[in-house]
Amino acid sequence: MTDMEQDPLWYKDVIIYEIPLKSFFDANGDGIGDFPGLIEKLDYISNLGVTAIWLLPFTDSPLKDDGYDIRDYFSVYPPYGNLADVRRFIEEAHKRGIRVITELVVNHTSDTHPWFVSARSTRASPFRDYYVWSDSPEKYRGTRIIFSDSEKSNWTWEPKTRQYYWHRFFHHQPDLNFDNPKVQDEILNIVTFWFSLGVDGLRCDAVPYLFEREGTNCENLPETHAFLKRLRKEVDRLFPGRMLLAEANQWPRDVLPYFGNEDEFHMAYHFPLMPRLFIAIAQGDRKPIVEILGQTPPIPDSCQWTIFLRNHDELTLEMVSDQERDYLWSYYAKDSRMRLNLGIRRRLAPLMQNDRRKIDLMHSLLLTLPGTPILYYGDEIGMGDNVHLGDRNGVRTPMQWSSDKNGGFSRADPSSLYSPPIQNPVYGYHVVNVESQVRFPTSPLNMLRQMIQVRQGFRIFGRGSTTILHPKNFRVFAYLRESDGKVGLILNNLSDATESVLLDLSRFDGYTPVEMFSQSEFPKIRKHPLHFTVSPYGYFWLYLQPPDLPSDHPGSS
Ligand code: GLC
Ligand code: CA
Repeated sequence: MTDMEQDPLWYKDVIIYEIPLKSFFDANGDGIGDFPGLIEKLDYISNLGVTAIWLLPFTDSPLKDDGYDIRDYFSVYPPYGNLADVRRFIEEAHKRGIRVITELVVNHTSDTHPWFVSARSTRASPFRDYYVWSDSPEKYRGTRIIFSDSEKSNWTWEPKTRQYYWHRFFHHQPDLNFDNPKVQDEILNIVTFWFSLGVDGLRCDAVPYLFEREGTNCENLPETHAFLKRLRKEVDRLFPGRMLLAEANQWPRDVLPYFGNEDEFHMAYHFPLMPRLFIAIAQGDRKPIVEILGQTPPIPDSCQWTIFLRNHDELTLEMVSDQERDYLWSYYAKDSRMRLNLGIRRRLAPLMQNDRRKIDLMHSLLLTLPGTPILYYGDEIGMGDNVHLGDRNGVRTPMQWSSDKNGGFSRADPSSLYSPPIQNPVYGYHVVNVESQVRFPTSPLNMLRQMIQVRQGFRIFGRGSTTILHPKNFRVFAYLRESDGKVGLILNNLSDATESVLLDLSRFDGYTPVEMFSQSEFPKIRKHPLHFTVSPYGYFWLYLQPPDLPSDHPGSS
């Protein structure tokens, strides 16, 4: 590994690529993606320029929630491969300078996990206390239901032992009882197992919900934070330099405690930013983004937000007002089949109506706003979705490698694929695929690759401070990213018209803006406001070159 990768703050500089194993590449022709397939495609991932992979759950599971319903924490779901394959995958990824982030799903297990099978069979089971039981479904009434389209209560009746068990997600995912010290020890075991195997980071699923207390909404409880501090301490002691990422779908002020005093998580998703990027580009107005960044408190030095546009779930609209949600639903999900729970089950390209300018602009925002960006597999080629598939399966279809059978994903009989590939005339694999997009320089794939390459040349993006500029023209969203005396100026035109904008950059009198992609120089900055014209949905990434440097200085660190 290179020096940069030895840095304990490596997670600030990476670009993360999110992959569901089953959807990526099927090496043995059984219709399901697998570890050997993923290993074969590592060069593709490495060519894209991403430097970390986040793998969705792959341990043994009945797959009623795509692996987030775990039956065994220590073995691989057989069609995906085995532990030797995982080791080889980690090794091969590391050889290419790619970090590996896997999942820690411990709020709940599958109801087929041996602990629960035993716990539900008799009240005398040694595992009874691994789960949360009650005589009455009225307990913890202040708790919201997350999968509101499929579950009516967070309690489900267990007829054999005549009590209800607690679950924040599907009824087949009973919550573990974190008040039981044995459960806490089991979790630390699981963490030790995966870090010992060599993973670089763990994405910790559903962390706000670990504990329950009467009279609260059972989220973000002090007991939960106390356990997470214990977890972090163990990780720092046994595995310094590894990373913990929190999935806490909450407002920034409620996420802040998950960073603690640099003694809980290294990273956390910025959930509320995401829907506001979609509102801003729909309305051609920077206000929603500026407001949420304004409400985002500073975080400790060693901590970092992760930001994203889309992922394997519905585009969640939990962190918006009712009015904003209605707007987003009516704008982006006119067809009711596109809606799920409090969200929208569509991919980036269809949400942008396949408008290349908008897709590129969203990537410009993702790659230049503060935080570590996550890309969702397939969005780099502009894949579409399938609203006719149930739950969130419409955004988890096979990766489109070529125009061959099954989109080049698998040699299997098409009827035995885990999911039909996208075949419609706009997004189908005959039209949208990797093989065609590597062949011309302006393809979505190559454009994104170039953006990633440029970003990786400037540490300001992963590490720098952010100063939002407030020009009169609200359709242009402009900001400065700065670190170690290096300055980037980013402009994004959120509207479908050419916009002109005046920026007060007098602080940089004498500097020369240099366009990061082409290295072309703009007129020198003077005391008076600088004028820019930005094309519809256009963007500029400019490096501000100080006056005393020769003009051929690349400005990268
Ligand atoms: C997380 C995952 C989601 C899963 C849920 C329950 O929110 O992102 O896919 O269904 O946890 O484990
Ligand atoms: Ca396979």
